[in-house]
Amino acid sequence: MMLWPRMALENRLSGEDYRFLLREKNLDGSIHYGSLQSWLRVTEERRRMMERGFLPQPQQKDFDDLCSLPDLNEKTLLENLRNRFKHEKIYTYVGSILIVINPFKFLPIYNPKYVKMYDNHQLGKLEPHIYAVADVAYHTMLQRKKNQCIVISGESGSGKTQSTNFLIHHLTALSQKGFASGVEQIILGAGPVLEAFGNAKTAHNNNSSRFGKFIQVNYQETGTVLGAYVEKYLLEKSRLVYQEHNERNYHVFYYLLAGASEEERLAFHLKQPEEYHYLNQITKKPPRQSWDDYCCDSEPDCFTVEGEDLKHDFERLQLAMEMVGFLPKTQRQIFSLLSAILHLGNICYKKKTYRDDSIDICNPEVLPVVSELLEVKEEVLFEALVTRKTVTVGEKLILPYRLAEAVTVRNSMAKSLYSALFDWIVFRINHALLNSKDLEQNTKTLSIGVLDIFGLKIMKIIALNSSALILLMNVYNTTLISTSLNWSRRNTELKMKKATFHRRQIKHC
Ligand SMILES: Nc1ncnc2c1ncn2[C@@H]1O[C@H](COP(=O)(O)OP(=O)(O)O)[C@@H](O)[C@H]1O
Ligand SMILES: [Mg+2]
Repeated sequence: MMLWPRMALENRLSGEDYRFLLREKNLDGSIHYGSLQSWLRVTEERRRMMERGFLPQPQQKDFDDLCSLPDLNEKTLLENLRNRFKHEKIYTYVGSILIVINPFKFLPIYNPKYVKMYDNHQLGKLEPHIYAVADVAYHTMLQRKKNQCIVISGESGSGKTQSTNFLIHHLTALSQKGFASGVEQIILGAGPVLEAFGNAKTAHNNNSSRFGKFIQVNYQETGTVLGAYVEKYLLEKSRLVYQEHNERNYHVFYYLLAGASEEERLAFHLKQPEEYHYLNQITKKPPRQSWDDYCCDSEPDCFTVEGEDLKHDFERLQLAMEMVGFLPKTQRQIFSLLSAILHLGNICYKKKTYRDDSIDICNPEVLPVVSELLEVKEEVLFEALVTRKTVTVGEKLILPYRLAEAVTVRNSMAKSLYSALFDWIVFRINHALLNSKDLEQNTKTLSIGVLDIFGLKIMKIIALNSSALILLMNVYNTTLISTSLNWSRRNTELKMKKATFHRRQIKHC
């Protein structure tokens, strides 16, 4: 029979528990606690209890910083994350790194109350939160007068873009302290515009960013937002001409086709999505009469996503475009170009004669539409679509494309047009975000950069190193993670870059 020692009963504090710990004594009478040595960090009182054979239970059931896990291994680490996630605690620190588990549902933790709560607090003082990371970056920048950077990495659908939005929101909120100035409005408006043109539905994420993004928020030394700068990396151009099963083209096409007014439909020669080759390659179904018909479809298709209101999204996009300075006339030019790209994709080719390789366009009626929308001469367009110009020594040759080549050329043209449009949109957004004060040489500016990028290359490296690390999180830097884990083992100070990591799969582990 085992009895609780009197001491344990008398000194028992509320919420504190004790366990019997059976250990074989060593020959010299000492007790070997093995991995429990890490528990020795607890108070003197608790240490004495342990020596007498008691294992104090942690007062809290989970650890908000993985570095304070007494026994760190893959199992305890995941269990801790899972326990926290069950209680809707999606954020956990590893030192100054933040791990986020995508909740896939709205949590009421992003309101002004939280903005205020995390204002000017040391990291770790409050429950982990993305606002705390933004706050630390902001105040460190002001105190040390040094630029800061936050890297967000994780696989597709893990919540990188959402977290970037929360960060940018908080970084602008800290500066404006309740008063929305013009620049902050533009920074916030840039998000929906970039998402409409650079995001698409994929098999894993209905709003997947198909480009890497770096946003730099510039501040005055006083901490007021001056302006911002957006840089984009590697837009996935192939998506424009081909999509895998259960995936879609860029959002903006669906927004335009669903939300355009009758006048715009006529002006841009808009059709139903099923009638465009660049949208219908996976789902080939008889064309519907109007967008409202889709509710009657018995079979689900790829054009619509549950809970999506494309008409509303189009209105929202137009509003956001206005916020970042796209006048209605410019917006029309953009939509006209989008429609031209869709019509361009419908152009098909045939062989002219059996004798030579020359080709012709099977549906020439599309040409005047594209030429009108692009505002280029029909002959020039035709020539570009069927012939190639080669310059040899002193000679200019015009040769017809072969059938297979012509399709590639048509697709390349569409991809180039879209890519140039996207670059131009980013350029225009940057122009709107640029503050004339930025250019003044005397004004000292500080900045916080937020990088939202998929860490594909690094995932490969980690896969070679340790599966435990993959299960833990999607990281952009193996050294960073292994160092942080070693640090937690040794309980030494972690001095690393600030970063936020996501891992949706942790939920499924
Ligand atoms: N913090 C969060 N709270 C609620 N939902 C989230 C959160 N983070 C992500 N999500 C959900 O996950 C989806 C995918 O997130 P997203 O940021 O687009 O992923 P990624 O950019 O990593 O591909 C979002 O559309 C949103 O529904
Ligand atoms: Mg994204």
